[in-house]
Amino acid sequence: MRAYVLPDDESGPALTEVPAPQLADDEVLVRVRASSVNPHDAMVANGSAARYMTYHFPVVLGSDLCGTIDALGANVTDLAVGQRVFGLVRERVAARGSFAQLVAVPREWVVPAPDNLDDVSAGALGLAALTALRCVEAVRPAEGEAVLVNGATGGVGGYAVQMLADRGVHVIATARPGEEDELVRKLGATHVVDWSDGDLADAVRALRPDGVAAVVDLVNRDKDTLTALATRLMGPGGRVACTGHAADPERLPGIHAVNVLAEIDQDALLAIADLAGAGRLRAPVTRVFGLEEIDRAFAALSAGSLGKLAIRV
Ligand SMILES: NC(=O)c1ccc[n+]([C@@H]2O[C@H](COP(=O)([O-])OP(=O)(O)OC[C@H]3O[C@@H](n4cnc5c(N)ncnc54)[C@H](OP(=O)(O)O)[C@@H]3O)[C@@H](O)[C@H]2O)c1
Repeated sequence: MRAYVLPDDESGPALTEVPAPQLADDEVLVRVRASSVNPHDAMVANGSAARYMTYHFPVVLGSDLCGTIDALGANVTDLAVGQRVFGLVRERVAARGSFAQLVAVPREWVVPAPDNLDDVSAGALGLAALTALRCVEAVRPAEGEAVLVNGATGGVGGYAVQMLADRGVHVIATARPGEEDELVRKLGATHVVDWSDGDLADAVRALRPDGVAAVVDLVNRDKDTLTALATRLMGPGGRVACTGHAADPERLPGIHAVNVLAEIDQDALLAIADLAGAGRLRAPVTRVFGLEEIDRAFAALSAGSLGKLAIRV
């Protein structure tokens, strides 16, 4: 099969021919139709994920997937060959991936794709939608509350804005003027703050003098910066969820602070399928690349991307 592969720890990734994956009893073989690029995939590709993953070369890159079931492992009885599914590859080992014509994954890593969702949209849910759901759950939003989404213009942010708005939250989204501002408003943001112009906490305070109930932070990796932002916007009872491991509960007394690590969970994937199937969650895909254009997709991601960059396999 054709796959985008990192052959060893000295060469860069390339589209190449590799043997089709072996199927274990508790796995499904998916014929991939679509995927998308995540910052995590770029880190696996450039080797920097070696800090937290073990590489088993050759590594097939890619996390998100939508495709049809090509074969079922002996123990899988609740899916059918030909059925369309979506989900993701997520494990501590870098080995298998979805930037390929075929990928074998444990049954729990996929769920049936809603009929109303096209392949490219379903293939762009995966890691970003799962992470967004975890962030939203972590900040326990109540209807009518104000929540800041910092990093709203990216993949995780685009889903988090929609999930929060769907729960009746007043979403304050970070975005620069122009197409970024337009996108986050379309996704359900009530207010937009331009993070590139002045101090973020001041801009949020100007809109909401009493601050916010919670912060979903998809930008900060530095504990000092996130601690300062959270304490300037929230008092006791505030909540913060961060994907960059910058939430420091010890320095945020009275604030519920969570560092989100998105792990695969069948119930979470089913919840995402329900939202997307009901038309309450859409994939904010802004560009679509072919399997032979993944280098360009990674370059676009690192140059500054809006929404999700999809891959059509
Ligand atoms: N812990 C986990 O399990 C987990 C899971 C998934 C993702 N993550 C992490 O979560 C973060 C977001 O992921 P993603 O997929 O949404 O990435 P993404 O698609 O690249 O989105 C990041 C967005 O933030 C914007 N941005 C950059 N600097 C900003 C700033 N100072 N203030 C406000 N916005 C800013 C970016 O704009 P430009 O593109 O214009 O710079 C981009 O639109 C990444 O760091 C990723 O590694 C963690």
